[in-house]
Amino acid sequence: MGWGEWARGIEIEPSLYAADFSCLREEIAVVMDAGARIFQFDVGDGHFVEPVTIGPIVLQSISGLVHERGGVLDVHLMTEHPARHFQAVAEAGGDSVTFHVEAVDDVPVTAARARELGLAAGLAFNPETKPEDAAAAAWDVDLVLCMSIHPGYSGQAFMPESLPRIRRLRELLPDGKPIQVDGGVGLENVRALREAGASLLVAGSSIYGEDDPAAAYRRLVEAFT
Ligand code: DX5
Repeated sequence: MGWGEWARGIEIEPSLYAADFSCLREEIAVVMDAGARIFQFDVGDGHFVEPVTIGPIVLQSISGLVHERGGVLDVHLMTEHPARHFQAVAEAGGDSVTFHVEAVDDVPVTAARARELGLAAGLAFNPETKPEDAAAAAWDVDLVLCMSIHPGYSGQAFMPESLPRIRRLRELLPDGKPIQVDGGVGLENVRALREAGASLLVAGSSIYGEDDPAAAYRRLVEAFT
């Protein structure tokens, strides 16, 4: 299956940002053994978000091992000028780029640029941005990412006001346009997120912060699907 099939499913996406980078190959393998096939890869530039995180060089080093087992890499660009990074992401083996509505002037032009490079395109929006504004800009993207934390760091608490925002987004978006949620996702909120209309949940510390990431992944899948 390609990125599109995974992104249109009901999926828990491990966020590699929360993994142990000293053994990234093993961290990926352990959740793939448990069934994970779609990973979020968070690029932070130190401007759009406070931290500098990981980028195309790390992506390049893992894309082969994810792809050879039928997995895909969903690259969340927490950056200013996201389109400047598309080519490097594509060359490093990324499958999609999700850029922020707050960071671009023209969503359709930015999405078209991603597609020219063979990447799917997602549109993310921050807690301060109205779901109405995100939905109005999202007609030409493959998914919409509702941030349920202020982006930048793993391990933050889920913002409960995200639930009505997701419900509103679901009302506004066409059926079949996936809603992804990122930040503070855990066993205590996956069911409510599904009921609110989300189909892709990114989970960092609730998988990689646990002693047994495979078991944590499986529990989240069971609670969500
Ligand atoms: C941070 C990233 C998230 C982060 C989530 O802004 O976009 O993907 O890794 O981590 P948790 O699930 O711990 O909130």
